[in-house]
Amino acid sequence: MTEFNYPQPTPIGDWNRLLEGRVAVVTGGGTGIGGSISRLFAQHGAIVEIIDIDPSVANEAVSDINAAGGIARAHVADCRDWEQLQGVAATILSDHPHVQVLVNNVGDYRPLERFRKSSPDSWKAMYDINFFAMVASTKCFIESMISGGGGSIVNIHSVEGMRGYPGDPIYGAMKAASAKFSTDLALSMGRNGIRVNGIGPDLTQTPQVDYISTSVGSEHLWEAWAPVGRLGWPEDQARVALFLASDLSAYVTGHNIPVDGGTKAGAGWFYSPAEERFTNRPKGL
Ligand SMILES: NC(=O)c1ccc[n+]([C@@H]2O[C@H](COP(=O)([O-])OP(=O)(O)OC[C@H]3O[C@@H](n4cnc5c(N)ncnc54)[C@H](O)[C@@H]3O)[C@@H](O)[C@H]2O)c1
Repeated sequence: MTEFNYPQPTPIGDWNRLLEGRVAVVTGGGTGIGGSISRLFAQHGAIVEIIDIDPSVANEAVSDINAAGGIARAHVADCRDWEQLQGVAATILSDHPHVQVLVNNVGDYRPLERFRKSSPDSWKAMYDINFFAMVASTKCFIESMISGGGGSIVNIHSVEGMRGYPGDPIYGAMKAASAKFSTDLALSMGRNGIRVNGIGPDLTQTPQVDYISTSVGSEHLWEAWAPVGRLGWPEDQARVALFLASDLSAYVTGHNIPVDGGTKAGAGWFYSPAEERFTNRPKGL
């Protein structure tokens, strides 16, 4: 019988320390989904470098991580600003020449604008926060990942980039661009040992969507909308990010995973004739 001499996969090691000793950069890593990712990655042994525009949330994340015995550092920068990003990247790389994990998490749907009310300035703002920031931070760290032998890039975009989205076509288009950037970068980086994957969250309880508790609020809505019958928690996103960042997903690249409680599978949108618009909140629920 022919004997095959396949190379064996790298052992996982300690399943409670999936990122032991790896340098992980998390943009927007202070609060929300990014904050949960920073904390979970540190719990799994990563040295977490948080880049955030808001020093208070970034420092709070670092305090939490340090108090739990982890390692993290906060860097204040606006990821829409190329000069600021380059400055922060230089600081991080002077201490850690090889970054192994990059999570591009910065993004925002606000202000939600109907296309007819939008303007070149608002299109540019959507581009800057949802696409430019992702590409720019990738550019800042990719050479360090290549020279260190590879790593994993996890791009947080949105399920709205993976399905039709009636709310704001510019936001949807920017998130779709981020998803496409993830798949296409994966193809060009595979031979450099870098995997690239995206996560498409649907509504997840973070400061960015704190309107949910006031303006939407109905438990029935989530029962109707999300097949799992609840909103997402930041931890739901962070756990998938951990999978994609770690060797658990060593053979996964070029994919975009909706982390949405099943809404993409369920379509998720309803047309309300009474309101003459698509809505995620049909009247009567
Ligand atoms: N929360 C949701 O329901 C939801 C749904 C779909 C997609 N997303 C996407 O997930 C990602 C995270 O969303 P979230 O809800 O956790 O956001 P959030 O607003 O709650 O938190 C964003 C974090 O990024 C930081 N930040 C904001 N602008 C920045 C900038 N220009 N430079 C550096 N840091 C900046 C903030 O200070 C904060 O720490 C975004 O890309 C968002 O579009 C979120």
